[in-house]
Amino acid sequence: MRTHYCTDLNENHVGQRVRLTGWVNSYRDHGGVIFIDLRDKTGLVQLVCDPADNAVAHQTASEVRDEFVLIAEGTVRRRGEGLENPKLKTGAIEVVVDNLIIENRSEPMPFVLGDSNVGEEIRLKYRYLDLRRPEMFELFKLRSKAAIAARNCLDRLGFLEVETPVLTKSTPEGARDYLVPSRVHNGEFYALPQSPQLFKQLLMVAGFDRYFQIAKCFRDEDLRADRQPEFTQIDVEMSFCDQEDVMAVAEELLKEIFGACGKEIATPFNRITWRESMEQYGNDRPDLRFGMPLVEVIDLFENCDSPIFAEIAKDPKANRIKALKVPGGDNAFSRKIIKELESFVTKFGAKGLAYIQVRDEGLKGPILKFLDDGAVEELKKRLDLQTGDIVFFGAGDRKTVWDYMGRLRVETAERLGLIDRDRFEFVWVVDFPMFEVEEGRLKALHHPFTMPKNIDETDVEAIESVAYDVVLNGIELGGGSIRIHKPDIQEKVFKILGIGEEEAQEKFGFLLDALKFGAPPHGGFALGFDRLMMMLGKRESIRDVIAFPKTQSATCLLTHAPSAVDEAQLKELGIRIRRQAKSDAAQ
Ligand code: AMO
Repeated sequence: MRTHYCTDLNENHVGQRVRLTGWVNSYRDHGGVIFIDLRDKTGLVQLVCDPADNAVAHQTASEVRDEFVLIAEGTVRRRGEGLENPKLKTGAIEVVVDNLIIENRSEPMPFVLGDSNVGEEIRLKYRYLDLRRPEMFELFKLRSKAAIAARNCLDRLGFLEVETPVLTKSTPEGARDYLVPSRVHNGEFYALPQSPQLFKQLLMVAGFDRYFQIAKCFRDEDLRADRQPEFTQIDVEMSFCDQEDVMAVAEELLKEIFGACGKEIATPFNRITWRESMEQYGNDRPDLRFGMPLVEVIDLFENCDSPIFAEIAKDPKANRIKALKVPGGDNAFSRKIIKELESFVTKFGAKGLAYIQVRDEGLKGPILKFLDDGAVEELKKRLDLQTGDIVFFGAGDRKTVWDYMGRLRVETAERLGLIDRDRFEFVWVVDFPMFEVEEGRLKALHHPFTMPKNIDETDVEAIESVAYDVVLNGIELGGGSIRIHKPDIQEKVFKILGIGEEEAQEKFGFLLDALKFGAPPHGGFALGFDRLMMMLGKRESIRDVIAFPKTQSATCLLTHAPSAVDEAQLKELGIRIRRQAKSDAAQ
């Protein structure tokens, strides 16, 4: 239908007849001559419809409105002196139209494509219009480039792309499953995979040696800016490898993907242990684009005059007192801002926010009166305090302190403008604990197939695993581990987790059986592809890099999924709906 894309045209085409297709981006009637900016996926070109040149085409042009679909034939000419538009790639030329076809009309648009303040709800409802915005198209071009780079890189490294089932059994990634009722087996359900984890391990038992898949994963969990119920992983598994081999593949893959998207990154990435990361940054996904580590000062409060701090300092295993020095924070943060920071941390469990200001005349802050001179001197030294700094303190149970002090670190750095948005700071977090206690119950921190470094049942919370996460600018981009390939170790791990033989058999019997038939040592990782694209596309929301995303409450505003189904369909499935109060459903 076309001879060229809109932005193919330039001064070299002057005098040529062309046929273009696209949408009306805008139109202007200048004293009888109609100018139309025609848009296709490549960009814009100006069409000119002058009644003096062609009365019929001009008549048709007078009917066009925004987003009409046109086929335009005409001749390329150089724009008049001073009429060039340097902002447009095709700004030196225009097409004088002699045949204009309105291929399709458009209703008035529900929002203006160029308006950056349009609410997300309306954009998601009319996602196909939202995706017409060139900025969105660029993101999907980038996504496609990244996927192709990933495939090429893994193919070169000898990985085989294999698809694994979507209708399957529950996989243990820790979220709730999406269930699909079976018609043939009434009362039974498939689960959508939270990841291809178990299947990729089976492919290693099968001897495939190196597997990958750009895989859809499904997790029914609370959504955030970087989480979707349905998301994509670049999923990788390999045999006869150790942690170093797997990390090298992940780094090469990331380097190639970033390179294909025009970003050079340096490898190997830095490493930090899980413990160091928690103690210094308050979480296991440290943002290392800026410094400001948390500093432990619990020892300085051992004999202090505050009963509260002294009590906390008595148990340095369970508790922490962390100091966060914000350089220049005293100069930058007004009393009002400090109050805001205090209410920020209280949302995450802090009881208050003690602080010390560093002034020319000395330190200032109510907390000082509890500390003796020696402790104050040590504090100055340990934190290397300078005039103009402010130091915040978090004290209490370690998990809570890590969490809110880690958040405070990022919040204060953001307020001070210390975070360089153009920097990519990768880090491997290694030596994760094998288990964690959640709501009084022991669970696997990664998943129960992760290889433990030892299996000392006397102190299970101290057991570390051969697991690693790759973190970029404070976001967990991916994670993986070396897996257990020996049945006796797997049994021990299940035993520690309180998973009985019967339950293990029922849930993962097929994997346990497979381990008995000569499973090779193996391990792998998965990168969150959507998160990766969020970072590469510099977007705050994961929804921007997914063509048809779900809202924060897991609905699709375009298709209205999820939705009720016919009674007849339910009957076939043997399902009767028991209406739940909203509060019950959320539990
Ligand atoms: P994990 O659960 O850490 O590991 O997931 C790997 C990566 O997937 C991304 N991710 C998500 N992205 C968007 N929305 C979500 N709801 C979501 N959940 C996870 C993250 C995360 O780092 N089978 C293991 C991998 C392995 O051990 O090989 C797994 O799925 O970027």
